[in-house]
Amino acid sequence: MTDLSRALKESWTLVEERQDKLASYFYARFFASNPKLRELFPVHMDPQRARLLRAVVTAIQTIDDPERFGAYIRALGRNHRKYQVSPAQYDLFGTALLDALRTFAGDRWSTEYDQAWREAYDLIRRNMILGAEEDPSALPFWPAEVITHERRGADVAVFTCRPLQPFIYRPGQYAELESPHQPQMWRRYSIANAPRVDNVLEFHVRALSTGLVSSALAHRLRPGDLIRIAAPAGSMTLDNHSTRDVVCVAGGTGLAPIKALIEQLAQHNTARWVHVFFGARNRDDLYDLPRLAELTTRHSWLSVVPACSEDPTWDGERGNIPDVLARQGPRSNHDFFVSGSAAMVKATLGTLAELQVPAVRIKYDALGEI
Ligand SMILES: Cc1cc2nc3c(=O)[nH]c(=O)nc-3n(C[C@H](O)[C@H](O)[C@H](O)COP(=O)(O)OP(=O)(O)OC[C@H]3O[C@@H](n4cnc5c(N)ncnc54)[C@H](O)[C@@H]3O)c2cc1C
Ligand code: HEM
Repeated sequence: MTDLSRALKESWTLVEERQDKLASYFYARFFASNPKLRELFPVHMDPQRARLLRAVVTAIQTIDDPERFGAYIRALGRNHRKYQVSPAQYDLFGTALLDALRTFAGDRWSTEYDQAWREAYDLIRRNMILGAEEDPSALPFWPAEVITHERRGADVAVFTCRPLQPFIYRPGQYAELESPHQPQMWRRYSIANAPRVDNVLEFHVRALSTGLVSSALAHRLRPGDLIRIAAPAGSMTLDNHSTRDVVCVAGGTGLAPIKALIEQLAQHNTARWVHVFFGARNRDDLYDLPRLAELTTRHSWLSVVPACSEDPTWDGERGNIPDVLARQGPRSNHDFFVSGSAAMVKATLGTLAELQVPAVRIKYDALGEI
């Protein structure tokens, strides 16, 4: 362990038990240094405080491994491009962080610790700026005009939009969106189509009852509105060299990236069987079945098993989607793609482990933290 890593870990133990308070103090200090910064952040800061602490802990834990540390922090910098963070703001962040650490460590803080955190933060700042500047052609965000907006049942909307500049991504990826009706709040949504020549993107959004961005996108968005889209991310993408058959397991709007993958396969696949398990609570939530049915009639390699867990009137497969999958028997030689709520993804990964599917064959994205 290097001296830097030891000093960071040692000093973190002084504040670890009060890290929530430290994060609150940090943000208060950060916002006081430039009140405009407050406007960038959501009203409720609890999730953000937790994310920041996780980032700090990850940074401390990986600082001895320049490759992992660099990759993690550069990705964070790329992700921050949309906030258009200036070098001066990075300095304010560093000052507030040091101040919070010193304040909470109290008497046991030392010059060595101070020096270690200055060095660590300098590495973080430099790598975040590097990450943000890595691809000079990338924009901080892409303005995109909403073309169509269609409600599917009470809570789900499917909309299409066209970024004003070319937007390059891989099927299966997601991007953070900002709605004009809920400015400065970014949330992740999976792109539901493979890239098209007309640059149009499709999104499927479920409005959560008290969800700010999902409600704005599902209930208030209209054709002609301009949304903002940040750089695509995510690795739930097809391995083009694989010849294995494919199993996709989707829950609710977790169908979106699966549809993008099917569209990609439709462009060149002739040899791989693709089985889609699409689960929801009731038939209304199987909001895209007609389009999926259309795809199955067009592509003989595609089959879809829809299932409802709480709909007594549904005469198809019943039960939670991982149980439906398990009933269909083992498929240890397939590539798996799993997408849905955190609970659904967790349960499906459990089922796949029981079915002895090797973890390397499974790619997944959860709509919330697992
Ligand atoms: C990789 C990834 C891809 C995603 N893709 C999609 C997608 O394609 N489509 C999609 O609809 N979503 C997707 N999401 C989820 C999306 O990013 C948002 O988290 C979601 O829309 C909620 O955002 P919000 O601003 O409306 O809610 P927020 O205002 O952030 O509030 C969310 C919080 O509200 C609570 N909550 C309120 N109402 C409910 C409710 N009815 N049910 C459960 N919790 C509730 C929860 O505690 C939750 O933590 C994806 C998430 C990830 C991480
Ligand atoms: C210096 C100026 C910075 C500004 C203005 C800034 C701004 C923001 C904003 C607005 C968010 C989104 C909050 C939300 O919507 O919930 C965010 C997220 C985040 N920030 Fe920063 N940030 C800065 C620096 C940093 C630094 C230096 C770090 C690392 C130590 C960091 C770590 C994070 C993390 C981990 C998230 C959550 C990201 C995610 O979950 O995708 N930020 N930041």
